[in-house]
Amino acid sequence: MITTYWQVDVEVFDKYGIKKLRPLDKCIDYLLRNFPQRFPDKQTATTRAKQSINSFKTGCQQIKQKGIPLKYFANPIFISPIHYQQDKVIPAKEILDGANFARKHWLIDQFIELTHLCWKYEVFEATFNFAENHGIDSTGNLVCIDFGELEITEEQRIKNKKFKKSKMEICSYNASGYQR
Ligand SMILES: Nc1ncnc2c1ncn2[C@@H]1O[C@H](COP(=O)(O)OP(=O)(O)OP(=O)(O)O)[C@@H](O)[C@H]1O
Ligand SMILES: [Mg+2]
Repeated sequence: MITTYWQVDVEVFDKYGIKKLRPLDKCIDYLLRNFPQRFPDKQTATTRAKQSINSFKTGCQQIKQKGIPLKYFANPIFISPIHYQQDKVIPAKEILDGANFARKHWLIDQFIELTHLCWKYEVFEATFNFAENHGIDSTGNLVCIDFGELEITEEQRIKNKKFKKSKMEICSYNASGYQR
């Protein structure tokens, strides 16, 4: 069964998933329908969707060029520049639901460790949307399944002023995740 998310169509099989970047007009429709408060008109949705498609392409280039181990991104195999296969993971959001305190703590520690490993290769995941964009692979490691929002350099990241916001988001996520 194919499930539609805002950037990609995803089909998950026993051992792998197949993901395809959606066309611009479909991404725009999705934003307008599902997030009308954030994207009240076609222009704001178009700007965001174009930015997302560009950043997806940048992300693909980065993981190919920077020599980062592909296992950190669930071993993507590209069928075309916008279409790829990836190891199946258990999404972090599914693990967090109903997990006990120790498991949540472990998962967040894994996320921090993966983030630091990626920084060593100058690969910067910009959203910190950990629950949606990460999962546990078949070897039990936390990996990033969405390389659509990687930034090019730390400098760009700071210029975009996302760093402060992201830190706040992860702190608030930690706060809710740590509730027993
Ligand atoms: N390799 C995978 N294994 C299992 N499930 C996956 C895999 N890749 C994606 N998914 C599922 O599809 C969802 C969306 O994937 P992805 O984050 O790549 O797309 P997206 O368009 O950015 O969606 P979102 O806005 O929810 O992050 C994930 O949260 C997960 O539930
Ligand atoms: Mg995502």
